[in-house]
Amino acid sequence: MKRQRVRLGVNIDHVATVRNARGGAHPDPARAADAALAAGADGITAHLREDRRHITDADIDVLTALCRRADKPLNFEMAVTEEMLAIALRHTPHAACLVPERREEVTTEGGLAVAGHEARIAPVVKALSDAGIRVSLFIEPSEDQVEAAAAVGAQVVEFHTGRYCLLGDPAEREAEFERLAAAAAQADILGLEVHAGHGLNYATAGSILAIPEIVELNIGHFLIGEAVFVGLDAAIRRMRAAMDEASFGATSGAGS
Ligand code: PXP
Repeated sequence: MKRQRVRLGVNIDHVATVRNARGGAHPDPARAADAALAAGADGITAHLREDRRHITDADIDVLTALCRRADKPLNFEMAVTEEMLAIALRHTPHAACLVPERREEVTTEGGLAVAGHEARIAPVVKALSDAGIRVSLFIEPSEDQVEAAAAVGAQVVEFHTGRYCLLGDPAEREAEFERLAAAAAQADILGLEVHAGHGLNYATAGSILAIPEIVELNIGHFLIGEAVFVGLDAAIRRMRAAMDEASFGATSGAGS
């Protein structure tokens, strides 16, 4: 299989986290989205959490318009709730990624339980798809979740790479990689597009791309953290280079 250039979606939630720490307007997530696109991001991801701890409704208004103007995809991460569905249908972003949400969690700690909850999730997938929104489900790399994702009519699965990124033991890490690779192959056979994200840095974004079915990575926390030291533009360009090097080798570049 010839490797295609893997898309990089930049999650700008944590620009809003820093802004909200002081309650003002700085730093502005929309400015970060602009800068990310200028640095080569293929799209912007933002998670409107139910508690609005980082991204706000006003941010989604601005980001929708900004991405539309730039002709770049906005990936709207949302919990499976009536409120979020109504917001998504009002904005009709390019994509919606359904994620689990628990108020007490620090971040999205696991994948969405699709298996066993098909009756609740399928109508939301259908409503979004009917509005022309590409639907992705953020799931664990397990056979039952992939099967359920296909059964409820999703077009995309995004595999949660948090566990892979955190594991220190090489054998455990290899086992998790194999789990991700097997789930990606299964998803591809079922006609699902494969994305991955959570906890990725330069090294893990590169190593995960040994899985050939992955066509998009969504990365936030590491890039925003790195931006403190090197700037957002440099962090994104270095991530782009790490992804291209993993896909095409050090010298051949993305265009080959
Ligand atoms: N993909 C999804 C579905 C997520 O929920 C998140 C975190 O908000 C990410 C990707 C990005 O994860 P990180 O911020 O750890 O790079």
